Amino acid sequence: MTHPTLAGSSRSSFAADWWRHAVVYQVYPRSFADSDGDGLGDIRGVVSKLDHLESLGVDAVWLSPFYPSPLVDGGYDVSDPRSVDPRLGTVDDMRELVADAHSRGIKVIVDVVPNHTSDQHAWFQEALASPKGSAARARYVFRDGLGPDGGEPPSDWRSHFGGPAWTRLPDGQWYLHLFAREQPDLDWSNRGVRDDLLRTLRFWGDLGVDGFRVDVAHGLAKDLAEPLRSQPNLDRQLPTDGSDPLYDRDELDEIYAEWRAVFNEYEPPLMAVAEAWAPPSRVSRYAKRGSLGQAFNFEFSTSAWDSDQLRGVIERGLASAERSGATTTWVLSNHDIVRHATRFALPNGVDLDAWLLTGGVDPAPDVAVGRRRARAAALLMLALPGSVYLYQGDELGLPEVADLPIDRLRDPIWERTNGAQKGRDGARVPLPWDSEAPHLGFGTGEPWLPQPAVFRELAVSSQDADPASTLNLHRAAIRLRGLLDASEDITWIDSPDGVLHFRRAGGWRCLTNVSGDAVPLPAGEMLLSSAETPVGDTVPRDTTVWYR
Ligand code: NOJ
Repeated sequence: MTHPTLAGSSRSSFAADWWRHAVVYQVYPRSFADSDGDGLGDIRGVVSKLDHLESLGVDAVWLSPFYPSPLVDGGYDVSDPRSVDPRLGTVDDMRELVADAHSRGIKVIVDVVPNHTSDQHAWFQEALASPKGSAARARYVFRDGLGPDGGEPPSDWRSHFGGPAWTRLPDGQWYLHLFAREQPDLDWSNRGVRDDLLRTLRFWGDLGVDGFRVDVAHGLAKDLAEPLRSQPNLDRQLPTDGSDPLYDRDELDEIYAEWRAVFNEYEPPLMAVAEAWAPPSRVSRYAKRGSLGQAFNFEFSTSAWDSDQLRGVIERGLASAERSGATTTWVLSNHDIVRHATRFALPNGVDLDAWLLTGGVDPAPDVAVGRRRARAAALLMLALPGSVYLYQGDELGLPEVADLPIDRLRDPIWERTNGAQKGRDGARVPLPWDSEAPHLGFGTGEPWLPQPAVFRELAVSSQDADPASTLNLHRAAIRLRGLLDASEDITWIDSPDGVLHFRRAGGWRCLTNVSGDAVPLPAGEMLLSSAETPVGDTVPRDTTVWYR
Protein backbone atom coordinates (compact mmCIF):
# COMPACT_ATOMS: atom_id res chain seq x y z
CA MET A 1 0.00 0.00 0.00
CA THR A 2 1.27 3.46 -0.81
CA HIS A 3 0.82 6.21 1.72
CA PRO A 4 0.05 9.79 0.78
CA THR A 5 3.07 11.43 -0.73
CA LEU A 6 5.25 13.92 1.01
CA ALA A 7 4.60 16.64 -1.50
CA GLY A 8 6.51 19.88 -0.91
CA SER A 9 3.92 21.28 1.49
CA SER A 10 4.59 18.77 4.26
CA ARG A 11 8.14 20.11 4.57
CA SER A 12 6.59 23.39 5.56
CA SER A 13 6.78 24.24 9.25
CA PHE A 14 3.02 24.38 9.49
CA ALA A 15 2.20 20.96 8.06
CA ALA A 16 0.67 18.64 10.63
CA ASP A 17 2.69 15.70 9.37
CA TRP A 18 6.07 17.44 9.31
CA TRP A 19 7.52 14.59 11.38
CA ARG A 20 6.78 11.81 8.89
CA HIS A 21 10.07 12.21 7.02
CA ALA A 22 11.92 14.52 9.36
CA VAL A 23 15.62 14.32 10.06
CA VAL A 24 15.75 14.78 13.84
CA TYR A 25 19.01 15.58 15.61
CA GLN A 26 19.37 14.38 19.19
CA VAL A 27 21.14 16.74 21.54
CA TYR A 28 22.40 15.33 24.82
CA PRO A 29 22.48 18.78 26.43
CA ARG A 30 25.17 18.21 29.04
CA SER A 31 27.59 17.13 26.32
CA PHE A 32 26.72 19.42 23.43
CA ALA A 33 28.15 22.89 24.15
CA ASP A 34 28.99 24.70 27.39
CA SER A 35 28.29 28.45 27.32
CA ASP A 36 29.32 29.32 30.89
CA GLY A 37 32.53 27.39 31.45
CA ASP A 38 31.32 25.01 34.16
CA GLY A 39 32.22 21.95 32.09
CA LEU A 40 28.59 21.01 31.58
CA GLY A 41 26.76 21.72 28.35
CA ASP A 42 23.71 23.96 28.66
CA ILE A 43 20.73 25.47 26.85
CA ARG A 44 22.55 28.64 25.77
CA GLY A 45 25.24 26.35 24.41
CA VAL A 46 22.61 24.75 22.20
CA VAL A 47 21.42 28.20 21.07
CA SER A 48 25.00 29.11 20.20
CA LYS A 49 25.28 26.09 17.89
CA LEU A 50 22.01 26.45 15.99
CA ASP A 51 24.05 27.60 12.98
CA HIS A 52 25.61 24.15 12.91
CA LEU A 53 22.21 22.45 12.96
CA GLU A 54 20.92 24.77 10.28
CA SER A 55 23.89 24.10 8.03
CA LEU A 56 23.40 20.39 8.59
CA GLY A 57 19.84 20.83 7.35
CA VAL A 58 17.98 18.95 10.08
CA ASP A 59 14.22 19.43 10.46
CA ALA A 60 14.09 19.11 14.23
CA VAL A 61 16.20 18.91 17.33
CA TRP A 62 15.34 16.55 20.19
CA LEU A 63 16.75 17.53 23.58
CA SER A 64 17.41 14.77 26.10
CA PRO A 65 16.42 15.84 29.64
CA PHE A 66 17.58 19.27 30.81
CA TYR A 67 15.33 19.32 33.87
CA PRO A 68 16.56 19.71 37.45
CA SER A 69 18.19 16.42 38.32
CA PRO A 70 20.73 15.01 40.77
CA LEU A 71 22.25 13.38 37.64
CA VAL A 72 22.24 9.85 38.98
CA ASP A 73 21.11 8.70 35.53
CA GLY A 74 22.36 11.46 33.25
CA GLY A 75 19.23 13.58 33.74
CA TYR A 76 16.71 10.74 33.33
CA ASP A 77 16.21 11.12 37.09
CA VAL A 78 14.03 14.23 37.00
CA SER A 79 13.25 16.13 40.18
CA ASP A 80 11.03 18.77 38.53
CA PRO A 81 9.70 18.12 35.03
CA ARG A 82 8.41 21.67 34.49
CA SER A 83 11.64 23.51 35.07
CA VAL A 84 15.24 23.74 33.82
CA ASP A 85 18.29 22.57 35.75
CA PRO A 86 19.85 25.86 36.95
CA ARG A 87 23.26 24.56 35.82
CA LEU A 88 21.79 24.33 32.31
CA GLY A 89 19.84 27.59 32.26
CA THR A 90 16.31 28.82 32.75
CA VAL A 91 12.86 28.35 31.30
CA ASP A 92 13.42 31.65 29.50
CA ASP A 93 16.52 30.18 27.86
CA MET A 94 14.33 27.34 26.61
CA ARG A 95 11.83 29.86 25.30
CA GLU A 96 14.64 31.59 23.44
CA LEU A 97 15.94 28.30 22.07
CA VAL A 98 12.50 27.39 20.74
CA ALA A 99 12.01 30.84 19.18
CA ASP A 100 15.46 30.86 17.57
CA ALA A 101 15.11 27.29 16.27
CA HIS A 102 11.65 28.06 14.87
CA SER A 103 12.94 31.16 13.11
CA ARG A 104 15.30 28.84 11.24
CA GLY A 105 12.55 26.32 10.45
CA ILE A 106 13.84 23.83 13.03
CA LYS A 107 11.29 22.10 15.32
CA VAL A 108 12.04 21.31 18.95
CA ILE A 109 11.21 18.03 20.68
CA VAL A 110 11.78 17.47 24.40
CA ASP A 111 12.02 14.30 26.46
CA VAL A 112 9.33 13.30 28.95
CA VAL A 113 10.18 10.75 31.61
CA PRO A 114 6.84 9.38 32.85
CA ASN A 115 7.83 6.00 34.30
CA HIS A 116 9.79 7.33 37.27
CA THR A 117 10.95 10.47 39.02
CA SER A 118 14.13 11.28 40.87
CA ASP A 119 14.08 10.38 44.56
CA GLN A 120 14.61 14.13 45.08
CA HIS A 121 11.26 14.96 43.44
CA ALA A 122 8.93 16.66 45.97
CA TRP A 123 6.44 13.80 45.63
CA PHE A 124 8.93 11.13 46.63
CA GLN A 125 10.23 13.20 49.51
CA GLU A 126 6.62 13.58 50.66
CA ALA A 127 6.09 9.83 50.29
CA LEU A 128 9.14 9.12 52.43
CA ALA A 129 7.82 11.43 55.14
CA SER A 130 4.33 9.91 55.00
CA PRO A 131 3.07 6.70 56.57
CA LYS A 132 2.45 3.39 54.94
CA GLY A 133 -0.88 3.39 53.09
CA SER A 134 -0.90 7.22 52.66
CA ALA A 135 -2.00 9.05 49.52
CA ALA A 136 1.57 10.29 49.11
CA ARG A 137 2.88 6.73 48.91
CA ALA A 138 0.09 5.73 46.51
CA ARG A 139 1.74 7.77 43.74
CA TYR A 140 4.63 5.31 43.74
CA VAL A 141 4.80 1.54 44.13
CA PHE A 142 5.29 0.79 47.83
CA ARG A 143 4.77 -2.76 49.10
CA ASP A 144 5.47 -4.81 52.18
CA GLY A 145 8.22 -7.36 51.82
CA LEU A 146 7.92 -11.14 51.82
CA GLY A 147 9.16 -13.58 54.46
CA PRO A 148 8.44 -13.64 58.20
CA ASP A 149 9.78 -10.13 58.89
CA GLY A 150 9.10 -8.70 55.44
CA GLY A 151 12.82 -8.71 54.82
CA GLU A 152 12.58 -10.23 51.34
CA PRO A 153 11.75 -7.98 48.34
CA PRO A 154 8.07 -8.14 47.28
CA SER A 155 9.01 -9.87 44.00
CA ASP A 156 12.03 -11.11 42.06
CA TRP A 157 12.00 -8.13 39.66
CA ARG A 158 15.46 -6.86 38.76
CA SER A 159 16.67 -3.34 37.98
CA HIS A 160 17.98 -2.66 34.46
CA PHE A 161 21.07 -1.22 36.09
CA GLY A 162 21.78 -4.35 38.13
CA GLY A 163 20.50 -5.65 41.48
CA PRO A 164 16.94 -5.96 42.76
CA ALA A 165 14.27 -3.52 41.52
CA TRP A 166 13.18 -2.95 45.14
CA THR A 167 14.77 -0.91 47.91
CA ARG A 168 13.72 -1.12 51.55
CA LEU A 169 13.06 1.90 53.73
CA PRO A 170 13.86 2.11 57.44
CA ASP A 171 10.14 1.70 58.20
CA GLY A 172 10.22 -1.72 56.54
CA GLN A 173 8.34 -0.94 53.30
CA TRP A 174 9.92 -1.47 49.89
CA TYR A 175 9.56 0.72 46.79
CA LEU A 176 9.92 -0.26 43.15
CA HIS A 177 12.57 1.14 40.79
CA LEU A 178 13.11 -0.52 37.43
CA PHE A 179 16.21 1.66 37.00
CA ALA A 180 18.46 3.15 39.73
CA ARG A 181 17.21 3.20 43.32
CA GLU A 182 17.18 6.99 42.99
CA GLN A 183 14.52 6.59 40.24
CA PRO A 184 11.36 5.36 42.00
CA ASP A 185 8.63 4.11 39.62
CA LEU A 186 5.33 5.98 39.57
CA ASP A 187 2.03 4.08 39.83
CA TRP A 188 0.16 4.86 36.63
CA SER A 189 -3.16 3.60 38.01
CA ASN A 190 -3.09 6.76 40.18
CA ARG A 191 -5.21 9.61 38.76
CA GLY A 192 -2.95 12.28 40.25
CA VAL A 193 0.06 10.79 38.47
CA ARG A 194 -1.80 10.85 35.16
CA ASP A 195 -3.02 14.42 35.57
CA ASP A 196 0.42 15.69 36.49
CA LEU A 197 1.91 14.34 33.28
CA LEU A 198 -0.84 16.03 31.26
CA ARG A 199 0.15 19.25 33.00
CA THR A 200 3.76 18.69 31.98
CA LEU A 201 2.76 18.13 28.35
CA ARG A 202 0.77 21.38 28.33
CA PHE A 203 3.55 23.28 30.09
CA TRP A 204 6.03 22.54 27.31
CA GLY A 205 3.36 22.65 24.60
CA ASP A 206 2.39 26.17 25.72
CA LEU A 207 6.05 27.17 25.73
CA GLY A 208 6.14 26.25 22.05
CA VAL A 209 7.77 22.85 21.74
CA ASP A 210 6.63 20.71 18.82
CA GLY A 211 6.66 17.27 20.37
CA PHE A 212 7.97 14.75 22.83
CA ARG A 213 10.25 11.75 23.02
CA VAL A 214 8.65 9.43 25.55
CA ASP A 215 11.08 7.61 27.84
CA VAL A 216 10.34 3.93 28.65
CA ALA A 217 6.99 4.27 26.90
CA HIS A 218 6.36 0.53 27.19
CA GLY A 219 6.75 0.51 30.97
CA LEU A 220 4.07 2.73 32.53
CA ALA A 221 1.23 0.22 32.97
CA LYS A 222 2.08 -2.62 35.33
CA ASP A 223 0.18 -5.58 36.69
CA LEU A 224 0.55 -4.92 40.42
CA ALA A 225 -2.11 -7.39 41.58
CA GLU A 226 -0.98 -9.57 44.50
CA PRO A 227 0.80 -11.86 44.44
CA LEU A 228 3.20 -10.05 42.10
CA ARG A 229 4.05 -12.24 39.15
CA SER A 230 7.59 -13.33 38.40
CA GLN A 231 9.60 -11.46 35.74
CA PRO A 232 13.08 -12.68 36.54
CA ASN A 233 14.96 -11.42 33.51
CA LEU A 234 14.16 -7.90 32.37
CA ASP A 235 16.12 -8.26 29.19
CA ARG A 236 14.49 -11.41 27.89
CA GLN A 237 12.26 -11.27 24.82
CA LEU A 238 8.85 -9.94 25.87
CA PRO A 239 5.75 -12.01 25.05
CA THR A 240 3.87 -10.89 21.95
CA ASP A 241 0.45 -10.95 23.62
CA GLY A 242 0.95 -8.15 26.17
CA SER A 243 1.00 -10.58 29.09
CA ASP A 244 4.23 -9.40 30.74
CA PRO A 245 3.54 -7.93 34.20
CA LEU A 246 5.80 -4.91 33.66
CA TYR A 247 6.08 -4.05 29.99
CA ASP A 248 4.10 -3.50 26.83
CA ARG A 249 0.69 -3.99 28.39
CA ASP A 250 -2.60 -3.24 26.63
CA GLU A 251 -3.64 -0.68 29.29
CA LEU A 252 -1.06 1.69 27.79
CA ASP A 253 -3.48 2.43 24.94
CA GLU A 254 -5.83 4.20 27.30
CA ILE A 255 -3.02 6.26 28.86
CA TYR A 256 -1.73 7.44 25.50
CA ALA A 257 -5.23 8.20 24.21
CA GLU A 258 -5.42 10.83 26.98
CA TRP A 259 -2.08 12.25 25.94
CA ARG A 260 -3.17 12.31 22.30
CA ALA A 261 -6.17 14.43 23.24
CA VAL A 262 -3.74 16.96 24.75
CA PHE A 263 -1.45 16.84 21.69
CA ASN A 264 -4.48 17.59 19.52
CA GLU A 265 -5.24 20.78 21.46
CA TYR A 266 -2.31 22.32 19.54
CA GLU A 267 -2.16 23.41 15.93
CA PRO A 268 -0.46 21.58 14.35
CA PRO A 269 -0.90 18.74 16.87
CA LEU A 270 2.19 17.97 18.93
CA MET A 271 4.04 14.84 17.83
CA ALA A 272 5.44 12.12 20.04
CA VAL A 273 7.85 9.27 19.54
CA ALA A 274 7.86 6.28 21.87
CA GLU A 275 10.95 4.68 23.28
CA ALA A 276 9.30 1.27 23.46
CA TRP A 277 11.48 -1.82 23.57
CA ALA A 278 8.54 -4.00 22.58
CA PRO A 279 8.57 -6.98 20.19
CA PRO A 280 8.68 -5.72 16.56
CA SER A 281 5.15 -7.05 15.99
CA ARG A 282 3.80 -4.78 18.77
CA VAL A 283 5.81 -1.58 18.36
CA SER A 284 3.25 -0.29 15.84
CA ARG A 285 0.65 -0.01 18.65
CA TYR A 286 2.53 2.95 20.10
CA ALA A 287 2.74 4.58 16.69
CA LYS A 288 -0.98 4.50 15.91
CA ARG A 289 -2.73 7.75 15.17
CA GLY A 290 -4.78 7.69 18.42
CA SER A 291 -1.68 6.87 20.47
CA LEU A 292 1.75 8.49 20.52
CA GLY A 293 1.94 8.60 16.72
CA GLN A 294 5.47 7.33 16.17
CA ALA A 295 7.82 4.79 17.80
CA PHE A 296 11.52 4.25 17.66
CA ASN A 297 12.70 1.37 15.56
CA PHE A 298 16.02 0.48 17.16
CA GLU A 299 16.84 -2.42 14.88
CA PHE A 300 19.60 -0.65 12.92
CA SER A 301 21.38 -0.07 16.20
CA THR A 302 21.58 -3.79 16.90
CA SER A 303 22.17 -5.03 13.34
CA ALA A 304 25.51 -6.40 12.24
CA TRP A 305 27.15 -5.15 9.03
CA ASP A 306 25.41 -7.89 7.07
CA SER A 307 23.17 -7.43 4.04
CA ASP A 308 20.51 -9.96 5.10
CA GLN A 309 20.23 -8.45 8.55
CA LEU A 310 20.11 -4.89 7.24
CA ARG A 311 17.48 -5.81 4.66
CA GLY A 312 15.42 -7.52 7.37
CA VAL A 313 15.58 -4.37 9.48
CA ILE A 314 14.34 -2.25 6.59
CA GLU A 315 11.52 -4.64 5.68
CA ARG A 316 10.28 -4.98 9.26
CA GLY A 317 10.47 -1.22 9.79
CA LEU A 318 8.41 -0.47 6.69
CA ALA A 319 5.91 -3.24 7.54
CA SER A 320 5.48 -1.83 11.02
CA ALA A 321 4.75 1.59 9.51
CA GLU A 322 2.11 0.00 7.27
CA ARG A 323 0.40 -1.45 10.35
CA SER A 324 0.36 1.78 12.34
CA GLY A 325 -0.21 4.28 9.54
CA ALA A 326 2.75 6.23 10.93
CA THR A 327 6.16 6.27 9.33
CA THR A 328 8.95 4.25 10.81
CA THR A 329 12.06 5.74 12.36
CA TRP A 330 15.69 4.83 11.76
CA VAL A 331 18.29 5.00 14.51
CA LEU A 332 21.96 4.05 14.25
CA SER A 333 23.11 5.51 17.55
CA ASN A 334 21.92 7.36 20.63
CA HIS A 335 23.13 8.17 24.14
CA ASP A 336 22.51 4.59 25.32
CA ILE A 337 24.35 2.74 22.55
CA VAL A 338 27.99 2.18 21.53
CA ARG A 339 28.51 4.60 18.64
CA HIS A 340 28.11 2.99 15.21
CA ALA A 341 31.47 4.17 13.80
CA THR A 342 32.93 1.87 16.44
CA ARG A 343 30.37 -0.96 16.24
CA PHE A 344 31.02 -1.28 12.51
CA ALA A 345 34.78 -1.25 13.12
CA LEU A 346 34.52 -4.47 15.13
CA PRO A 347 33.95 -7.99 13.83
CA ASN A 348 30.25 -8.93 13.62
CA GLY A 349 28.99 -10.58 16.79
CA VAL A 350 31.44 -9.04 19.28
CA ASP A 351 29.93 -8.72 22.77
CA LEU A 352 30.08 -4.94 23.18
CA ASP A 353 29.86 -4.98 26.99
CA ALA A 354 32.83 -7.34 27.20
CA TRP A 355 34.70 -5.29 24.62
CA LEU A 356 34.16 -2.06 26.60
CA LEU A 357 35.64 -3.75 29.65
CA THR A 358 38.86 -4.29 27.71
CA GLY A 359 39.11 -0.51 27.35
CA GLY A 360 38.21 -0.94 23.69
CA VAL A 361 41.38 -2.76 22.66
CA ASP A 362 40.43 -6.44 22.39
CA PRO A 363 39.65 -6.89 19.61
CA ALA A 364 41.16 -3.69 18.19
CA PRO A 365 38.63 -1.74 16.12
CA ASP A 366 39.56 -1.19 12.46
CA VAL A 367 39.02 2.56 12.43
CA ALA A 368 39.13 2.96 8.63
CA VAL A 369 36.56 0.20 8.13
CA GLY A 370 34.34 1.71 10.84
CA ARG A 371 34.48 5.12 9.18
CA ARG A 372 33.65 3.72 5.73
CA ARG A 373 30.74 1.68 7.02
CA ALA A 374 29.39 4.48 9.19
CA ARG A 375 29.32 6.74 6.12
CA ALA A 376 27.67 4.03 4.02
CA ALA A 377 25.13 3.30 6.76
CA ALA A 378 24.24 6.99 7.08
CA LEU A 379 23.54 7.23 3.35
CA LEU A 380 21.50 4.02 3.44
CA MET A 381 19.43 5.31 6.36
CA LEU A 382 18.93 8.73 4.79
CA ALA A 383 17.70 7.10 1.56
CA LEU A 384 14.80 5.42 3.35
CA PRO A 385 11.27 6.73 3.78
CA GLY A 386 10.39 7.56 7.39
CA SER A 387 12.17 9.73 9.88
CA VAL A 388 15.83 9.59 10.71
CA TYR A 389 17.10 10.22 14.23
CA LEU A 390 20.75 11.30 14.23
CA TYR A 391 22.66 11.41 17.50
CA GLN A 392 24.97 14.37 18.14
CA GLY A 393 28.40 13.57 16.74
CA ASP A 394 27.08 11.03 14.19
CA GLU A 395 27.61 13.74 11.59
CA LEU A 396 31.28 13.90 12.60
CA GLY A 397 31.77 10.13 12.60
CA LEU A 398 32.71 10.19 16.28
CA PRO A 399 33.84 6.86 17.72
CA GLU A 400 32.89 5.44 21.11
CA VAL A 401 35.34 6.58 23.79
CA ALA A 402 36.02 3.16 25.24
CA ASP A 403 39.03 4.02 27.39
CA LEU A 404 37.51 6.52 29.81
CA PRO A 405 39.30 6.25 33.16
CA ILE A 406 37.23 4.30 35.67
CA ASP A 407 37.20 7.19 38.13
CA ARG A 408 35.54 9.42 35.53
CA LEU A 409 32.62 7.07 34.78
CA ARG A 410 29.24 8.57 35.69
CA ASP A 411 26.76 6.01 34.36
CA PRO A 412 25.12 4.15 37.29
CA ILE A 413 25.48 0.93 35.31
CA TRP A 414 29.18 0.69 36.24
CA GLU A 415 28.59 0.82 39.97
CA ARG A 416 25.29 -1.10 40.04
CA THR A 417 26.70 -4.04 38.12
CA ASN A 418 29.78 -4.06 40.39
CA GLY A 419 31.97 -3.34 37.40
CA ALA A 420 30.52 -6.12 35.23
CA GLN A 421 29.43 -3.48 32.68
CA LYS A 422 31.16 -0.21 31.94
CA GLY A 423 28.03 1.65 30.90
CA ARG A 424 27.18 4.36 28.39
CA ASP A 425 29.53 7.26 29.14
CA GLY A 426 31.65 6.51 26.07
CA ALA A 427 28.83 7.75 23.83
CA ARG A 428 28.32 10.89 25.91
CA VAL A 429 31.71 12.59 25.70
CA PRO A 430 31.45 16.36 25.03
CA LEU A 431 31.53 17.28 21.33
CA PRO A 432 34.60 18.68 19.57
CA TRP A 433 33.77 21.95 17.80
CA ASP A 434 37.07 23.69 17.21
CA SER A 435 40.38 21.85 16.89
CA GLU A 436 42.36 24.90 18.04
CA ALA A 437 40.29 26.03 21.02
CA PRO A 438 40.65 24.86 24.63
CA HIS A 439 38.64 21.68 25.20
CA LEU A 440 38.08 21.56 21.45
CA GLY A 441 35.63 24.43 21.68
CA PHE A 442 33.17 22.62 23.96
CA GLY A 443 33.61 25.40 26.53
CA THR A 444 36.24 27.15 28.59
CA GLY A 445 35.99 24.82 31.59
CA GLU A 446 37.22 21.26 32.01
CA PRO A 447 34.53 19.06 30.36
CA TRP A 448 32.66 16.67 32.68
CA LEU A 449 34.04 13.74 30.67
CA PRO A 450 37.51 13.94 29.09
CA GLN A 451 37.76 14.21 25.30
CA PRO A 452 40.16 11.81 23.56
CA ALA A 453 42.98 13.01 21.27
CA VAL A 454 41.23 11.61 18.18
CA PHE A 455 38.39 14.13 18.61
CA ARG A 456 40.74 16.90 17.40
CA GLU A 457 40.86 15.75 13.78
CA LEU A 458 37.10 15.05 13.89
CA ALA A 459 36.13 18.50 15.20
CA VAL A 460 33.61 20.53 13.21
CA SER A 461 36.34 23.05 12.32
CA SER A 462 38.58 20.27 10.98
CA GLN A 463 35.84 18.86 8.74
CA ASP A 464 34.08 22.01 7.65
CA ALA A 465 36.20 22.92 4.64
CA ASP A 466 36.95 19.36 3.49
CA PRO A 467 34.40 18.43 0.80
CA ALA A 468 34.99 14.72 1.45
CA SER A 469 34.49 14.92 5.21
CA THR A 470 31.83 12.95 7.05
CA LEU A 471 30.26 16.25 8.10
CA ASN A 472 29.90 17.43 4.51
CA LEU A 473 28.60 14.03 3.46
CA HIS A 474 25.79 14.38 6.00
CA ARG A 475 25.05 17.93 4.87
CA ALA A 476 24.86 16.87 1.24
CA ALA A 477 22.75 13.80 1.95
CA ILE A 478 20.23 15.65 4.12
CA ARG A 479 19.89 18.40 1.53
CA LEU A 480 19.44 15.93 -1.33
CA ARG A 481 17.03 13.79 0.67
CA GLY A 482 14.81 16.85 1.06
CA LEU A 483 14.84 17.43 -2.69
CA LEU A 484 14.43 13.83 -3.82
CA ASP A 485 12.06 12.57 -1.16
CA ALA A 486 8.73 11.55 -2.57
CA SER A 487 6.79 8.51 -1.48
CA GLU A 488 6.70 6.29 1.58
CA ASP A 489 7.64 2.99 -0.01
CA ILE A 490 10.62 1.46 -1.78
CA THR A 491 11.00 -1.15 -4.51
CA TRP A 492 13.80 -3.66 -4.09
CA ILE A 493 15.97 -4.34 -7.12
CA ASP A 494 17.34 -7.87 -7.63
CA SER A 495 21.03 -7.85 -6.78
CA PRO A 496 23.91 -10.16 -6.03
CA ASP A 497 24.56 -11.39 -2.47
CA GLY A 498 25.79 -8.69 -0.17
CA VAL A 499 24.17 -5.82 -2.06
CA LEU A 500 21.15 -3.79 -0.93
CA HIS A 501 19.57 -2.00 -3.85
CA PHE A 502 16.24 -0.22 -4.03
CA ARG A 503 14.37 2.38 -6.01
CA ARG A 504 12.40 5.32 -4.65
CA ALA A 505 9.48 6.96 -6.40
CA GLY A 506 10.73 9.44 -8.93
CA GLY A 507 13.24 6.86 -10.05
CA TRP A 508 16.25 7.53 -7.86
CA ARG A 509 18.05 4.54 -6.42
CA CYS A 510 20.23 3.62 -3.49
CA LEU A 511 22.81 0.84 -3.61
CA THR A 512 24.77 -0.28 -0.56
CA ASN A 513 27.64 -2.69 -1.04
CA VAL A 514 27.96 -4.80 2.10
CA SER A 515 29.84 -7.58 0.29
CA GLY A 516 33.58 -7.81 0.73
CA ASP A 517 34.34 -6.87 -2.92
CA ALA A 518 33.65 -4.06 -5.35
CA VAL A 519 30.48 -4.51 -7.43
CA PRO A 520 29.62 -2.97 -10.82
CA LEU A 521 28.10 0.50 -10.69
CA PRO A 522 24.76 0.45 -12.57
CA ALA A 523 24.41 2.95 -15.43
CA GLY A 524 22.93 6.31 -14.47
CA GLU A 525 23.66 9.71 -13.07
CA MET A 526 25.61 9.60 -9.81
CA LEU A 527 23.97 11.78 -7.17
CA LEU A 528 26.04 11.05 -4.08
CA SER A 529 28.51 8.48 -2.85
CA SER A 530 29.73 7.68 0.64
CA ALA A 531 33.22 6.83 -0.62
CA GLU A 532 35.92 9.32 0.32
CA THR A 533 37.38 9.28 -3.19
CA PRO A 534 35.49 9.46 -6.50
CA VAL A 535 33.84 6.22 -7.56
CA GLY A 536 34.69 4.80 -11.04
CA ASP A 537 32.65 2.07 -12.70
CA THR A 538 32.50 -0.06 -9.58
CA VAL A 539 31.08 0.56 -6.12
CA PRO A 540 33.80 -0.22 -3.57
CA ARG A 541 33.01 -2.40 -0.57
CA ASP A 542 31.34 -0.71 2.40
CA THR A 543 29.96 2.05 0.19
CA THR A 544 26.52 3.48 -0.56
CA VAL A 545 25.71 5.37 -3.76
CA TRP A 546 22.60 7.31 -4.72
CA TYR A 547 22.02 7.55 -8.45
CA ARG A 548 19.27 7.86 -11.03
C1 NOJ B 1 15.97 5.33 28.49
C2 NOJ B 1 16.97 6.42 28.41
O1 NOJ B 1 17.35 6.59 27.07
C3 NOJ B 1 18.13 6.00 29.29
O2 NOJ B 1 19.22 6.86 29.13
C4 NOJ B 1 17.65 5.96 30.72
O3 NOJ B 1 18.69 5.45 31.54
C5 NOJ B 1 16.43 5.06 30.88
N1 NOJ B 1 15.47 5.25 29.83
C6 NOJ B 1 15.74 5.32 32.19
O4 NOJ B 1 15.11 6.56 32.16
